[in-house]
Amino acid sequence: MAKKPIKAIEALEEAQKIAFAPFVFQTTISLRKLGILDYIFENSRDGVTSQKQLSEALNITEYGLSVLLEIAESSDIVSQDEEGNYELTKIGYFLNYNKMTEANLNFTQDVCYQGLYHLNEAIETGKPAGLKELGPWPTVYEGLSQLPSKVQNSWFSFDHFYSDEIFEEALPIVFRHQPKTLYDIGGNTGKFAILCAKYNPEVDIKIFDLPGQLAKALENAKKNGLENRIKGQEIDWLSQKPEITEGADTIWMSQFLDCFSKEEILKILTTCVNSMSDTTELIIIETFTDRQKFDNARFTLEATSLYFTAMANGNSKMYKASEFIDLATEAGLTVKEDLAIGEFHTMLVCRKSQ
Ligand SMILES: C[S@@+](CC[C@H](N)C(=O)[O-])C[C@H]1O[C@@H](n2cnc3c(N)ncnc32)[C@H](O)[C@@H]1O
Repeated sequence: MAKKPIKAIEALEEAQKIAFAPFVFQTTISLRKLGILDYIFENSRDGVTSQKQLSEALNITEYGLSVLLEIAESSDIVSQDEEGNYELTKIGYFLNYNKMTEANLNFTQDVCYQGLYHLNEAIETGKPAGLKELGPWPTVYEGLSQLPSKVQNSWFSFDHFYSDEIFEEALPIVFRHQPKTLYDIGGNTGKFAILCAKYNPEVDIKIFDLPGQLAKALENAKKNGLENRIKGQEIDWLSQKPEITEGADTIWMSQFLDCFSKEEILKILTTCVNSMSDTTELIIIETFTDRQKFDNARFTLEATSLYFTAMANGNSKMYKASEFIDLATEAGLTVKEDLAIGEFHTMLVCRKSQ
């Protein structure tokens, strides 16, 4: 990335923003939680959003409002007119009403905030040292089905926000090949498996996941009356010799391989290749850092990498597409199609190399 010229005074200012970033973040959480941003947005047009009026309407002390709103104004989240009435800036509006920002804020606050304190230890040990703040598991995936409901909701909302949008777009591509048996590796809550079963009445799906997550996915399949077409197999890809049966027409891996180190990804892909016939398609969906149109999207992926480091497993990250293509080739796959899908995703359609 090209170096941007910046004056020393501005650089010093930026450095203070970083030094106090958690203060601004927690202020934002409070402004949302206490309904302050909602109230300001809904009432600023009527000119009744002075500190005193907010205090009376929301039953928050003027002291409490003053400390939150002062730093919010300096951080360009709110602004004040000559009469002292607050309104939301564009940043404030997005912090309160944008769905992506909401998923990111809740994920940061509920899943990552306390654990990130242990980031340094995670880097030194290669272990997700922050995970102890959530529970006693070796990786977050063993704990997913047992997380406290608020934490779990924020984890799933974040995960689903970045995958749901592409599922609909992916279905016609997946079913071009008319698969009769589809393996969903890392099927999570069963969302994609259920969509597939509803989209095509002839396909049978097998979900592969850790025991806790698989039980949830199969429960969801049953709730949708699809227990005869969606089955599952427990698997731990970190075990000595994980295996999957032959017979898949399509192997689907959405935002799954980024949960592993490069060595582990190679092992998973090689295991899959050993189960594939010449006509099996292996489809990888990922958000790659080198495939983002906007710096902002790349920033989100870089932050997600730190979640993997401190909270999830200590050794995975969001990768470049070029790294995945190399790993796929090494595992014995040929990338037949490399498609941009949705706003952030790439789909790699692979076959066994001949
Ligand atoms: C980030 S989620 C992706 C979920 C889904 N495919 C999607 O696109 O939203 C990763 C999934 O991989 C599973 N997983 C993580 N580590 C695993 C392991 N060691 N063995 C088996 N599954 C694992 C998790 O339980 C989870 O369901």
